Amino acid sequence: MNKVLGVKLKNFRCHEDFELECPQSTTMIVGENGSGKTSIIEAIYLALRGKSFKGVDREILRRGADFYRAEILLSDAQKVVIRFDGVKKSFEIDHKKSLRLPKKYRYPVVLFEPDDLHLVGSSPSRRRDYFDEFFKQIDANYGVVLSRYAKALRQRNDLLKDEAVSRDTLFSWNVLLAHYGSEILQRRISNLKKINALLTDNYRGIAKNEDECSLEYLGEKDLSENRYMEILERNFERDTLLGYTSFGVHRDDFEFIFNGEKADGSASRGEIRSIILALKFIEAEVLEMELNKKPVVLLDDIFSELDDMRQQHLIENFKDYQMIMTSTNALRGINGELLNL
Ligand SMILES: Nc1ncnc2c1ncn2[C@@H]1O[C@H](COP(=O)(O)OP(=O)(O)O)[C@@H](O)[C@H]1O
Ligand SMILES: [Mg+2]
Repeated sequence: MNKVLGVKLKNFRCHEDFELECPQSTTMIVGENGSGKTSIIEAIYLALRGKSFKGVDREILRRGADFYRAEILLSDAQKVVIRFDGVKKSFEIDHKKSLRLPKKYRYPVVLFEPDDLHLVGSSPSRRRDYFDEFFKQIDANYGVVLSRYAKALRQRNDLLKDEAVSRDTLFSWNVLLAHYGSEILQRRISNLKKINALLTDNYRGIAKNEDECSLEYLGEKDLSENRYMEILERNFERDTLLGYTSFGVHRDDFEFIFNGEKADGSASRGEIRSIILALKFIEAEVLEMELNKKPVVLLDDIFSELDDMRQQHLIENFKDYQMIMTSTNALRGINGELLNL
């Protein structure tokens, strides 16, 4: 199990010069709104995953500064140093520099932020992004296929802006979209199966009742590459009229089902919170199962949104993981390092 042992930041968002040691398995960072809690979580995430969940380097760079530097010390005896000079970013591990965080150094993370509690009722694109990020962690190839699909989609959409575009011109893009798209679909469906196998049990562990929940894939589920291709070809007129690609995995969605109905609209606020909590537990479980590594759990400012019962479940469930959490006020009953910002 890899652990975060320390964080040093220079010109990273509001942190001009910041240092944190977190040798224990639980660290609680307490500070007012705007004191820089999420920025610390962002830096840790960046070192473990290779990119931010919030923004790009220009936004991270402290206003007025001309470089940022983040140094994250990990228990695997490696130190990840990230530097950005206003134009280029580099990662340095074991004195080796690279423009991206090498795959072998990426480490699984379960990030839980307040916005996740609104996942059930949020937009399809938010849910797609959410599950895509999760599936990328399970399987690095998923990310590769996803970005190839996105690139082909951008190019096809650019061509569609021209009303005079011909079927022949689109053909090679259709081939690529059908190829990558059907692969994305397959992986989404198989990962969803893994989640569904665990969701109801996890939910019941929290809610202590007999309710059922699951996730359903919204989109064509049974789609071979050929059939995918046929639909794209068939949509030629429609797509040229619209000026974009109207069919494909980039339009699909994930729906939460609660006791046989759409959770959005039927489940109560408390029930939805329990569903999301269950989903977080499953993320950790699936990541550990698939990668044989215990993810680092980052809990950013979610406690104020959860009642005592759910707070306790959260802490109890993640007690065997390293937890780094933030809050605007110190929480009772947490054993660990406390840092006041
Ligand atoms: N590039 C930047 N330079 C300077 N300040 C920034 C930058 N990006 C964000 N901030 C500021 O940093 C502060 C801390 O943000 P954040 O880490 O989200 O705090 P918290 O999570 O504690 O509420 C905010 O006031 C924000 O406006
Ligand atoms: Mg915050």
